[in-house]
Amino acid sequence: MVDYKTIYPEIHKILYTEEQVREKVAHLAKEISEFYSGKEILLVSVLKGGVIFLSDLIRQLEVKAELDFIAISNYEHQKSGIVRFIKDLDTDIQGKDVLIVEDIIDTGLSLNYLINNLRTRQPNSIEVCTLLDRPRRRFIDMDIRFKGFEISDVFIIGYGLDYNAYYRQLPFIAMLSPEFVYERR
Ligand code: IMP
Ligand code: MG
Repeated sequence: MVDYKTIYPEIHKILYTEEQVREKVAHLAKEISEFYSGKEILLVSVLKGGVIFLSDLIRQLEVKAELDFIAISNYEHQKSGIVRFIKDLDTDIQGKDVLIVEDIIDTGLSLNYLINNLRTRQPNSIEVCTLLDRPRRRFIDMDIRFKGFEISDVFIIGYGLDYNAYYRQLPFIAMLSPEFVYERR
Protein backbone atom coordinates (compact mmCIF):
# COMPACT_ATOMS: atom_id res chain seq x y z
CA MET A 1 0.00 0.00 0.00
CA VAL A 2 1.34 3.40 -0.94
CA ASP A 3 1.20 5.99 1.83
CA TYR A 4 -0.12 8.94 -0.15
CA LYS A 5 -0.55 11.17 2.92
CA THR A 6 3.20 11.08 3.43
CA ILE A 7 3.92 11.92 -0.20
CA TYR A 8 1.26 14.63 -0.24
CA PRO A 9 0.56 15.85 3.34
CA GLU A 10 -1.78 18.52 1.96
CA ILE A 11 -4.42 15.91 1.11
CA HIS A 12 -7.29 17.07 3.29
CA LYS A 13 -10.25 14.76 2.91
CA ILE A 14 -11.08 11.74 0.79
CA LEU A 15 -14.31 12.30 -1.10
CA TYR A 16 -14.51 8.92 -2.87
CA THR A 17 -12.39 5.98 -1.76
CA GLU A 18 -10.60 3.64 -4.12
CA GLU A 19 -13.37 1.08 -3.51
CA GLN A 20 -16.15 3.58 -4.29
CA VAL A 21 -14.39 4.64 -7.48
CA ARG A 22 -13.93 1.01 -8.52
CA GLU A 23 -17.63 0.26 -7.99
CA LYS A 24 -18.67 3.32 -9.97
CA VAL A 25 -16.39 2.45 -12.88
CA ALA A 26 -17.75 -1.11 -12.96
CA HIS A 27 -21.31 0.24 -12.98
CA LEU A 28 -20.56 2.63 -15.84
CA ALA A 29 -18.86 -0.15 -17.82
CA LYS A 30 -22.01 -2.26 -17.48
CA GLU A 31 -24.25 0.60 -18.62
CA ILE A 32 -22.02 1.29 -21.62
CA SER A 33 -21.79 -2.40 -22.55
CA GLU A 34 -25.59 -2.70 -22.51
CA PHE A 35 -26.13 0.51 -24.46
CA TYR A 36 -23.73 -0.51 -27.25
CA SER A 37 -24.47 -4.24 -27.10
CA GLY A 38 -23.38 -5.94 -30.34
CA LYS A 39 -21.69 -2.79 -31.65
CA GLU A 40 -18.13 -1.53 -31.84
CA ILE A 41 -17.13 1.74 -30.26
CA LEU A 42 -14.30 4.22 -30.47
CA LEU A 43 -13.35 5.59 -27.08
CA VAL A 44 -11.96 9.10 -27.25
CA SER A 45 -10.16 10.18 -24.14
CA VAL A 46 -9.20 13.74 -23.34
CA LEU A 47 -5.61 13.97 -22.14
CA LYS A 48 -4.39 14.00 -19.56
CA GLY A 49 -7.01 13.76 -16.84
CA GLY A 50 -9.20 11.20 -18.57
CA VAL A 51 -6.61 8.44 -19.02
CA ILE A 52 -6.70 6.88 -15.56
CA PHE A 53 -10.47 6.48 -15.69
CA LEU A 54 -10.30 5.31 -19.30
CA SER A 55 -7.76 2.58 -18.63
CA ASP A 56 -9.90 1.10 -15.85
CA LEU A 57 -13.10 1.50 -17.85
CA ILE A 58 -11.96 -0.06 -21.14
CA ARG A 59 -10.85 -3.28 -19.44
CA GLN A 60 -14.37 -3.88 -18.22
CA LEU A 61 -16.26 -3.24 -21.46
CA GLU A 62 -18.09 -6.16 -23.02
CA VAL A 63 -18.03 -4.67 -26.53
CA LYS A 64 -15.28 -4.27 -29.12
CA ALA A 65 -13.51 -1.01 -28.45
CA GLU A 66 -10.89 1.12 -30.21
CA LEU A 67 -9.01 3.85 -28.44
CA ASP A 68 -7.79 7.29 -29.41
CA PHE A 69 -6.64 10.43 -27.66
CA ILE A 70 -7.13 14.12 -28.01
CA ALA A 71 -5.46 16.91 -26.09
CA ILE A 72 -6.99 20.32 -25.59
CA SER A 73 -5.95 23.27 -23.55
CA ASN A 74 -8.69 24.81 -21.47
CA TYR A 75 -6.79 27.28 -19.37
CA GLU A 76 -8.21 30.37 -20.99
CA HIS A 77 -11.67 29.23 -21.91
CA GLN A 78 -13.32 30.63 -18.78
CA LYS A 79 -13.36 34.07 -20.35
CA SER A 80 -13.14 33.48 -24.07
CA GLY A 81 -14.75 30.11 -24.68
CA ILE A 82 -11.75 29.37 -26.87
CA VAL A 83 -10.22 25.94 -26.56
CA ARG A 84 -6.96 25.03 -28.24
CA PHE A 85 -6.26 21.64 -29.82
CA ILE A 86 -2.84 20.37 -28.77
CA LYS A 87 -3.18 16.89 -30.22
CA ASP A 88 -5.84 15.71 -32.64
CA LEU A 89 -7.16 12.16 -33.10
CA ASP A 90 -5.20 9.69 -35.23
CA THR A 91 -8.39 7.90 -36.25
CA ASP A 92 -10.90 8.86 -38.94
CA ILE A 93 -14.17 8.79 -36.99
CA GLN A 94 -16.55 8.95 -39.96
CA GLY A 95 -19.35 6.42 -39.51
CA LYS A 96 -18.10 5.32 -36.09
CA ASP A 97 -19.85 5.23 -32.75
CA VAL A 98 -17.76 7.57 -30.65
CA LEU A 99 -17.77 7.65 -26.87
CA ILE A 100 -15.92 10.57 -25.29
CA VAL A 101 -14.46 9.60 -21.93
CA GLU A 102 -13.91 12.53 -19.55
CA ASP A 103 -12.67 12.81 -16.00
CA ILE A 104 -14.91 15.73 -15.04
CA ILE A 105 -17.34 18.08 -16.71
CA ASP A 106 -17.32 21.46 -15.10
CA THR A 107 -18.36 24.47 -17.19
CA GLY A 108 -18.80 22.17 -20.18
CA LEU A 109 -16.94 24.56 -22.48
CA SER A 110 -14.14 22.14 -23.43
CA LEU A 111 -16.56 19.33 -24.09
CA ASN A 112 -18.92 21.51 -26.08
CA TYR A 113 -16.07 22.63 -28.31
CA LEU A 114 -14.89 19.07 -28.74
CA ILE A 115 -18.32 17.67 -29.61
CA ASN A 116 -18.98 20.41 -32.17
CA ASN A 117 -15.62 19.75 -33.76
CA LEU A 118 -16.07 15.97 -33.88
CA ARG A 119 -19.59 16.29 -35.32
CA THR A 120 -18.22 17.90 -38.47
CA ARG A 121 -16.32 14.65 -39.13
CA GLN A 122 -19.60 12.75 -39.50
CA PRO A 123 -19.42 9.97 -36.93
CA ASN A 124 -22.45 7.66 -36.68
CA SER A 125 -23.00 8.82 -33.09
CA ILE A 126 -21.29 10.72 -30.28
CA GLU A 127 -22.01 10.09 -26.61
CA VAL A 128 -20.26 11.23 -23.45
CA CYS A 129 -19.18 9.35 -20.37
CA THR A 130 -17.83 11.30 -17.42
CA LEU A 131 -16.74 9.99 -14.06
CA LEU A 132 -17.53 13.28 -12.33
CA ASP A 133 -20.16 15.86 -13.08
CA ARG A 134 -20.37 19.31 -11.53
CA PRO A 135 -23.63 20.66 -12.99
CA ARG A 136 -23.75 23.82 -10.89
CA ARG A 137 -20.92 25.43 -12.82
CA ARG A 138 -22.25 24.47 -16.22
CA PHE A 139 -22.33 27.27 -18.82
CA ILE A 140 -23.67 25.18 -21.65
CA ASP A 141 -26.46 22.69 -21.30
CA MET A 142 -25.50 19.31 -22.70
CA ASP A 143 -26.66 15.77 -22.85
CA ILE A 144 -24.38 13.43 -20.92
CA ARG A 145 -25.38 9.82 -21.46
CA PHE A 146 -23.18 8.16 -18.80
CA LYS A 147 -22.48 9.92 -15.51
CA GLY A 148 -20.61 8.75 -12.44
CA PHE A 149 -20.58 10.95 -9.35
CA GLU A 150 -22.36 14.29 -9.17
CA ILE A 151 -20.35 16.73 -7.09
CA SER A 152 -20.83 20.21 -5.68
CA ASP A 153 -18.55 23.18 -6.24
CA VAL A 154 -15.44 21.86 -4.49
CA PHE A 155 -12.06 21.52 -6.15
CA ILE A 156 -10.93 17.91 -6.22
CA ILE A 157 -7.83 15.96 -7.14
CA GLY A 158 -6.81 12.35 -7.73
CA TYR A 159 -7.68 9.52 -10.11
CA GLY A 160 -6.45 11.57 -13.08
CA LEU A 161 -7.37 15.00 -11.79
CA ASP A 162 -4.50 17.33 -11.03
CA TYR A 163 -3.65 20.51 -9.26
CA ASN A 164 -0.48 22.10 -10.68
CA ALA A 165 0.19 18.77 -12.47
CA TYR A 166 0.32 16.62 -9.31
CA TYR A 167 -2.03 14.08 -7.68
CA ARG A 168 -3.11 12.28 -10.86
CA GLN A 169 -1.62 9.08 -9.45
CA LEU A 170 -3.95 8.86 -6.44
CA PRO A 171 -6.34 5.89 -6.64
CA PHE A 172 -9.01 7.90 -4.77
CA ILE A 173 -10.63 11.31 -5.20
CA ALA A 174 -9.84 13.90 -2.55
CA MET A 175 -9.86 17.55 -1.54
CA LEU A 176 -6.74 19.55 -0.68
CA SER A 177 -6.32 21.65 2.46
CA PRO A 178 -8.04 24.99 1.78
CA GLU A 179 -4.85 26.95 2.57
CA PHE A 180 -3.01 24.92 -0.05
CA VAL A 181 -5.29 25.71 -2.98
CA TYR A 182 -4.43 29.31 -3.65
CA GLU A 183 -5.85 29.59 -7.09
CA ARG A 184 -8.50 27.64 -8.89
CA ARG A 185 -7.03 25.83 -11.93
P1 IMP B 1 -14.75 22.49 -18.41
O1 IMP B 1 -15.89 21.50 -18.25
O2 IMP B 1 -14.54 22.91 -19.82
O3 IMP B 1 -14.89 23.64 -17.47
O4 IMP B 1 -13.36 21.84 -18.01
C1 IMP B 1 -13.24 20.64 -17.46
C2 IMP B 1 -11.77 20.38 -17.25
O5 IMP B 1 -11.24 21.23 -16.23
C3 IMP B 1 -11.60 18.97 -16.74
O6 IMP B 1 -11.43 18.05 -17.77
C4 IMP B 1 -10.40 19.09 -15.83
O7 IMP B 1 -9.22 18.95 -16.58
C5 IMP B 1 -10.48 20.50 -15.30
N1 IMP B 1 -11.16 20.54 -13.97
C6 IMP B 1 -12.40 20.96 -13.69
N2 IMP B 1 -12.70 20.84 -12.38
C7 IMP B 1 -11.60 20.30 -11.80
C8 IMP B 1 -11.29 19.91 -10.44
O8 IMP B 1 -12.09 20.01 -9.48
N3 IMP B 1 -10.05 19.38 -10.26
C9 IMP B 1 -9.13 19.23 -11.25
N4 IMP B 1 -9.39 19.56 -12.54
C10 IMP B 1 -10.61 20.10 -12.81
MG1 MG C 1 -10.23 16.92 -18.73
